[in-house]
Amino acid sequence: NMGTNTHPTSAHGGAGTFAHHHDDDTDTIDVNIIPLSSSEPIDRQRGDLQKNVTFWNGLGLVVGVIIGSGIFASPGPVLAYSKSVGVSLIIWFVSGLLAFAGALSYAELGSAMPSTAGGEQAYLKYAFGSLPAFLFSWSSIALLKPAGNAIICVVFGEYVVNIAAQSTWDPTQPMKHWSNKAVAVVCVLIISALNSISVTIGTRIQDVFTVIKIISLLVIAIAGIVVLAQQTTSSSHVFDHAFEGESDPTLGDIALGLYTGLWAYDGWNNLNYVSAEMKNPIKDLPKVIFAGVPVVIVFYLLANTAYYAVLPTSVVMNTNTIAIDFGRQLFGPTGGVLFALCVACSCFGAANGGMFTGARVIYAAAREGYLPKIFGKVHERRRTPVAAFVLQAFMTIIMILGGTFSTLVNFFSVAAWLFYLLSILGLLYLRYHEPSLKRPFRVWTVVPILFSFLGLFLFLMPFVRAPKESCLSMVIVISGLPLWIAKELIDGNKETRWRDLRDKILYTFGIQSYRGGRHE
Ligand code: ARG
Repeated sequence: NMGTNTHPTSAHGGAGTFAHHHDDDTDTIDVNIIPLSSSEPIDRQRGDLQKNVTFWNGLGLVVGVIIGSGIFASPGPVLAYSKSVGVSLIIWFVSGLLAFAGALSYAELGSAMPSTAGGEQAYLKYAFGSLPAFLFSWSSIALLKPAGNAIICVVFGEYVVNIAAQSTWDPTQPMKHWSNKAVAVVCVLIISALNSISVTIGTRIQDVFTVIKIISLLVIAIAGIVVLAQQTTSSSHVFDHAFEGESDPTLGDIALGLYTGLWAYDGWNNLNYVSAEMKNPIKDLPKVIFAGVPVVIVFYLLANTAYYAVLPTSVVMNTNTIAIDFGRQLFGPTGGVLFALCVACSCFGAANGGMFTGARVIYAAAREGYLPKIFGKVHERRRTPVAAFVLQAFMTIIMILGGTFSTLVNFFSVAAWLFYLLSILGLLYLRYHEPSLKRPFRVWTVVPILFSFLGLFLFLMPFVRAPKESCLSMVIVISGLPLWIAKELIDGNKETRWRDLRDKILYTFGIQSYRGGRHE
């Protein structure tokens, strides 16, 4: 099996060999994320991907994936962690810059390896070998996808229950968790059922709800600007004492505040999954990022300013359903319901998209033989991966039952940021070790370096402030290790498998002698 795992290096031909290497690389999961606007067969393989994603499609994809539950749910927790309005706005801004830095760095990776459909999985494999790539794929299935979708469904549940409980509404009381969770579970079941019935239902839902959520956010931003314009004439408002809070945030608070803000920006990496399907990835990848992420940052800052202009901080701090409070305050009870419906649609659309791709990650893993065969089966008539949807629904529901918005965000983010960090370290590692790799877009070097330092801080601090969620998250990531070892030993050549295993581990840690020895 040595041949298929051979790693390209500059000595080996550099960039030119990547495509070749990729073609006969058979030992990692092929994660073809199919764009939701396409109705092509889902078992399409790498190589015959069609190139029809334009700049505008890409822009719609990035903005559509990023805007979801976060901007309608995170502002409360962000303020609770940051203790003051001023710090919370800084956290929203810094989160956006971090997402921007990450996305720009990923644009370098994506344009250097444009025919790669696997995103992080492929970059990690290229830079550090199969172990981290496998751990990423494993974590996507066992943690990142289900937890991410669970968070969105929880927010959906909170908004829907809040509409139903209108009359007994008290903004300072936390809501009853069990009714929220029941609704979130129903949401998972409905989405799984709809997407199991037909591929087109899923993509239609996506298109309609993307429009609704962008309009909602626009309305919030514009309403905020209007209110602020009126307030400048009155004598006092929240922004006068922006940095006053009952205490100062600790570094752990700041990290968790950033996690909650970053949740709202999550999805900045998703363009890379379709780089192989872009008409002109080398030009458009960076262009879409330069246009898309700053637009989202501006929107989010406007939305937060609007929330603060309209609502007292005591209300913001205690709510996960800020858009309802905002709507009620401005337009009365009907306004609250209207906003709640829009946000519920936004979340439903986001969960739909997340579960559409999530099921396909499971499906692809099963096709590679990493999961029981049944999960790689497509329903004969409906052409949908039904078993994959069942497994996904099961894991998502467990996470909904086990967590809350904030605990799930922390649980998700520790693992997510570990892999974002590793991918960007991979970028820096390749700059050093493979200077000859063609990089049509080179990000300014301080960007990945700063990202790495902040990423390390973000990865480590939550172990202090939220140890339970952080440790559980890492346990799941690390539980992929014995699976990887078992897989290597089963697939490996009888005589050399133990040595190969050791070599692959050494390779992951960049042991040079091995890198040379490999190509003897
Ligand atoms: N930013 C989105 C939200 O606020 C979450 C995106 C989930 N992540 C993803 N890769 N689809 O809900």
